[in-house]
Amino acid sequence: MCGIVGYAGRRGAQPILLECLKRLEYRGYDSAGVAIVGQGLQLFKSKGEIAVLESMMPQMAGTAGIAHTRWATQGKPTTENAHPLADCSNGLAVVHNGIISNFMQLREGLLKDGHKFSSDTDTEVFAHLVEAELQGDLSSAVAKALKKVEGTYAFAVVSGDREEIVAARMESPLVVGLGDGENFLASDVTALLKYTNRMVYLQDGEVASITKDSLKIIDANGQAVQREPQKITWSLEDAEKGGYPHFMLKEIFEQPDAIHDSLLGRIESLEPEPFFQGNNFSSVKIVACGTSYHAGMVGKYIIEELSRIPTTVQISSEYRYSPISRESPLVVLVTQSGETADTLGASREARKRGNKTVGIANVVGSAITREVDHTIFTRAGPEIGVAATKTFVTQLVALYLLAMELGTQNRSMTAQARRAMVTNLRNLPRAVQDVLNQAPLIEALANKYASARDMYFIGRGINYPVALEGALKTKEISYIHGEGFPAGELKHGPLALISTESPVVAVAVRDHTYEKMLGNISEVSARGSPVIAIGFEGDSELPKYVDEAIWIREIPPIFSPVPTIVVLQLWAYYLAKARGCPIDKPRNIAKTVTVE
Ligand code: G6P
Repeated sequence: MCGIVGYAGRRGAQPILLECLKRLEYRGYDSAGVAIVGQGLQLFKSKGEIAVLESMMPQMAGTAGIAHTRWATQGKPTTENAHPLADCSNGLAVVHNGIISNFMQLREGLLKDGHKFSSDTDTEVFAHLVEAELQGDLSSAVAKALKKVEGTYAFAVVSGDREEIVAARMESPLVVGLGDGENFLASDVTALLKYTNRMVYLQDGEVASITKDSLKIIDANGQAVQREPQKITWSLEDAEKGGYPHFMLKEIFEQPDAIHDSLLGRIESLEPEPFFQGNNFSSVKIVACGTSYHAGMVGKYIIEELSRIPTTVQISSEYRYSPISRESPLVVLVTQSGETADTLGASREARKRGNKTVGIANVVGSAITREVDHTIFTRAGPEIGVAATKTFVTQLVALYLLAMELGTQNRSMTAQARRAMVTNLRNLPRAVQDVLNQAPLIEALANKYASARDMYFIGRGINYPVALEGALKTKEISYIHGEGFPAGELKHGPLALISTESPVVAVAVRDHTYEKMLGNISEVSARGSPVIAIGFEGDSELPKYVDEAIWIREIPPIFSPVPTIVVLQLWAYYLAKARGCPIDKPRNIAKTVTVE
């Protein structure tokens, strides 16, 4: 996720672009840059946050320009890879939010045609594609270049010889703000509210040309589009969180897009990635902390199911000091930040032991990505709420992809099974959206149980780590004592804690453990505990056993952790809201722990 802004007007563009860009910093902050049309095209960019760019950049004269704050997905967060990216002659510049999934092929073709590249980004191909098409009209050149691009994008393009911004979008947000004698462009309205509240939302496939006193939009068929502006009534402060009261809720609601982005360009091929080809791993060890550890626990079930490779999971700080075994597993380090000290230490230890390592990380250029043999990036975008939500769900996506690689490589997965996996992965955003649509119901239930002191979470098999993660989310943001158990273990101790005062949340989707799960639910309800269950839609049996039920759409059980954890994220969020907790910044917890 990155942030884009544009300005064409009568005032100096530089301070306005910076002001707007700062409001988009939540979308990414590893590097930033500005291109201003003055006497020709002036470009300035730097690694680091927008404040760094601002402190270093010279005064740039000109009344039109574009700017970008980056969350790296392709190419490290360096100054060279920062946007805007220019064509061969520095005549035009491009900013981009999204992923061009066919950029490798495009880049090869452009190199053959003699284009010179100065970055490792997917975005730069677009600057060269527009350069190749430009013969007068910038909008037509952009429209022609877009025909070659696959993936998702919001683009803004400027050329040094005209005070015009050309913008286009496909599945990435882009809005035009209308002013008096000036017009604006941004990834979301929050960036523009200081200047205008009259917005025109661009639609997929449209190309817009923006000057100080005109906005022209054409659709994918080249037809002119007339669209009335909408008046936005948000306050500036509301808008920074996109209208959500907390970053956590915003990030929970971003999950369908985050899953979609994490799959983009990765599921089409039936061949394993080069790193996995020729490597037959006899075992896998997943190492991680906190929420990432819970993702790893789900990953164990997925990898064993799809590749049949025995998999163990260990907490990073435990693995580092554990005895060396005879095995030489593939060590998978799961860490959203890529900076957690214990996980970094574990990665170094794994390499010292001679093991191959794979990192699953959300931050391009983070420390872990420089240490491991291969990285699978989650593409969740920046996560600001301390409680991990969209990074967890995209870690699960990365683990499905990893399991498919391993299963394909060792031939445990047929091409047909792989195709079925792909279909199911593509359906996940919809399953998550169904859960999000039920947020009011989940809030009502959470309000009913928010005064509990203790809460227990139970699940079996692949749903056991979901129970653990639900308990962790609950304790860290609502301060209710939450504990997760494998449901079959209740009778070996935890039942002593169960009372009418302690609600039990049961992940009870219909899978091969379902009947046993109903038995475990009976054990707690017989002792008077209220039971709130998550089950598959259409299950007429479950309501007979539980006090409350929240339904998810029926999907193959191996995928159910994705929608069920979203239920539990909302559950924890609304419990915390009802209790008046500081949701985005829980006490004593840091987002990234860089000490042992
Ligand atoms: C901290 C955070 C957790 C996170 C854990 C691991 O404890 O509060 O939310 O799961 O670190 O972080 P990582 O960046 O390695 O995934």
